[in-house]
Amino acid sequence: DEHALIDRFGRIATDLRVSVTDRCNLRCAYCMPAEGLDWLPGADLLTGAELSRLIAVAVRDLGVTEIRFTGGEPLLRKDIIDIIESAAALGPRPRMSLTTNGLRLPELAGRLKAAGLDRVNVSLDTLREDRFLAITRRNRLDKVLDGMAAAAAAGLTPVKVNAVLMRGVNDDEAVPLLQYCLDRGYELRFIEQMPLDPQHAWDRERMVTATEILDMLGTAFELTPHPSPRGGAPAERWVVDGGRGSVGVIASVTQPFCAACDRTRLTADGQIRSCLFARTETDLRGPLRDGASDEEIAALWRTAMWGKAAGHGIDDAGFAQPDRPMSAIGG
Ligand code: GTP
Ligand code: 5AD
Ligand code: SF4
Repeated sequence: DEHALIDRFGRIATDLRVSVTDRCNLRCAYCMPAEGLDWLPGADLLTGAELSRLIAVAVRDLGVTEIRFTGGEPLLRKDIIDIIESAAALGPRPRMSLTTNGLRLPELAGRLKAAGLDRVNVSLDTLREDRFLAITRRNRLDKVLDGMAAAAAAGLTPVKVNAVLMRGVNDDEAVPLLQYCLDRGYELRFIEQMPLDPQHAWDRERMVTATEILDMLGTAFELTPHPSPRGGAPAERWVVDGGRGSVGVIASVTQPFCAACDRTRLTADGQIRSCLFARTETDLRGPLRDGASDEEIAALWRTAMWGKAAGHGIDDAGFAQPDRPMSAIGG
């Protein structure tokens, strides 16, 4: 309808990704330097009430049906339960998921489910303690594994697990990671690393590709294409060993899914980004704080999405990484 978030290429954004904080309690090497980043000043962050208002506009006036909470680490936000509760009270009720490093799930999984969260995606790149420490600069592998189990026990299902394979770091763990997830009923997805790190150290030659990942998995498992339609989902899915479980590969770089993208993003400081790789942002925080009406906010949001680029352009000459790292944009 004319109220939807439609762009020049006819794509309609129905999936809102909200970064609720840029902070994190890990320091994954592909995301942050060891010393962390210059965090956004508190006054720049949207308050809980502001986040709830923007989410309400997206759901009621702009046709958004799915909300993903991201960060940084979204569970570091003290009011995350309240934010989820207020979104769950909207009509029509949006589907809600959250992408987390899992550390706080042991204490929060039950309350998140009770507040109305449907499911979680947990990041896990290795099952080896020494490597977990090397990748995240923190010694907390056990906590993440406990967090995934707590999410499953609380019914935040399906629990999806995100793994970024890096050459010479953890690229020998594709099979053990899948084994671990199959045994517990988690849906593992391998993600091609994208140029989003603040150190600008991404190198296409070092990226482990979807093809390589499928070759490695093929040595231990029988993979057949998943029957369910993919839609705008980033993961291409495979059934494992005739039905033991499934696995996904998110080939953002070698097989971009931009043409089917159904996402709109809200940063922790209240900017709309039409794409992870957008060159510009549209400020909603200023207008919001200056008393803009829901209709005015909705109009700004529509204009921001109309200008969405056709694709991420990683392969284009002159491609430049976004100015902000993934933790600030929302993963
Ligand atoms: P579900 O499959 O519905 O659970 O969601 P999801 O896969 O979008 O969620 P998640 O937050 O777990 O993201 C997984 C990975 O998808 C991220 O690490 C990114 O690599 C990739 N991704 C997410 N959003 C985008 C996007 O807008 N563009 C691109 N190119 N990649 C994205
Ligand atoms: N490329 C691909 N995925 C990334 N993530 C973080 N940085 C990158 C990157 N440069 C992943 C994390 C997390 C998800 C939200 O994004 O592993 O699971
Ligand atoms: Fe934190 Fe996620 Fe970045 Fe790791 S990838 S440092 S868990 S925000």
